[in-house]
Amino acid sequence: LKTNSIRSEATAVSSDNVETLEGVDWDNFGFGLRPTDAMYVMKCEHDGHWGKGELKPFGNLELSPSAAVLNYGQGLFEGMKAYRTVDGRILLFRPEENALRMINGADRLSMPALPVDAFVNAVKQTVIANKRWIPPPGKGSLYIRPLLIGSGAVLGLAPAPEYTFLIYVSPVGNYFKGGLAPIDLKVDNYYHRAAPGGTGGVKTIGNYAPVLKTQLLAKGKGYSDVLYLDAVENKYVEEVSSCNIFIIKDGRIHTPELRGTILPGITRKSIIELARNLKYEVEERPVSVDELLEADEVFCTGTAVVVNPVGSVTYNDKRVKYKNAGLGGVAQELYTALTDIQTGKAEDRLNWVVQV
Ligand code: COI
Repeated sequence: LKTNSIRSEATAVSSDNVETLEGVDWDNFGFGLRPTDAMYVMKCEHDGHWGKGELKPFGNLELSPSAAVLNYGQGLFEGMKAYRTVDGRILLFRPEENALRMINGADRLSMPALPVDAFVNAVKQTVIANKRWIPPPGKGSLYIRPLLIGSGAVLGLAPAPEYTFLIYVSPVGNYFKGGLAPIDLKVDNYYHRAAPGGTGGVKTIGNYAPVLKTQLLAKGKGYSDVLYLDAVENKYVEEVSSCNIFIIKDGRIHTPELRGTILPGITRKSIIELARNLKYEVEERPVSVDELLEADEVFCTGTAVVVNPVGSVTYNDKRVKYKNAGLGGVAQELYTALTDIQTGKAEDRLNWVVQV
């Protein structure tokens, strides 16, 4: 693996000091794809060795119709963000955690993964090459989407003979329509996102298409998204289509423990640590739907979502509104604590940010 050559390429690109693009309406980005300048591509051929990664103009890929990712879903993705600080730096948040999660997911899907250093270097290069697309401070972030796919052709069910690691980026604003306003969740009591022994705990692409049906139905009825229950007892809260969930009762914070069916969110993990540092008691344990309905405050966490308060949940036609949703709640406090670190406003005492 040519980690050293990747490092020197990154240094070469970083000498280019292009500022943010002018003439872009940075105030009106939602969470949609905006094609940018460059994407990163690295291939792992038959011999199991990763070749030299390169930056290419953002564009379509050429794949065999029988690529393993297209036929059998052999693919993983990650989500990360780069922020521009007021003093002109560009920061990543815990990028090595995404690399480690991809290594874990690759093992589950029988794929070769990039070592942590190579992953982080590739992310840095891609961010630098798209630097002008990083929104100005306070106007959003550059969303980074690393992908690892079985790009080689297969017909019988087997691991692909070739893999491609890709990174593309897009400037983004808030994930949910309505910005950081409290969202309305529908608890699904029929469909499940993941089952024990399945792949709910890794970021495989296959976890996401199955939630579209319920998500579309819920959105059609005015909900923001769907909250899933466990597949065994249909009783414990697991996660929302695109984010983890936390509940607060009597000042204590609770979040479903990771049992292989819930995505180990990096924002989830960071919020647990920040909340404990702010002297909250945080428990990771099974959280029942009854506890959800009796909570004082509920919020979601994720890279795309950041920390978003939940205004209401609806379960079996029972709708519960949370009085503490929004400004002044614990979610707001944790949102500020997290984003101040991510955007370089607060001192990075936990050593979480990595300057590009
Ligand atoms: C993220 O938060 O980065 C995710 O991967 C969720 C995605 C469905 C937008």
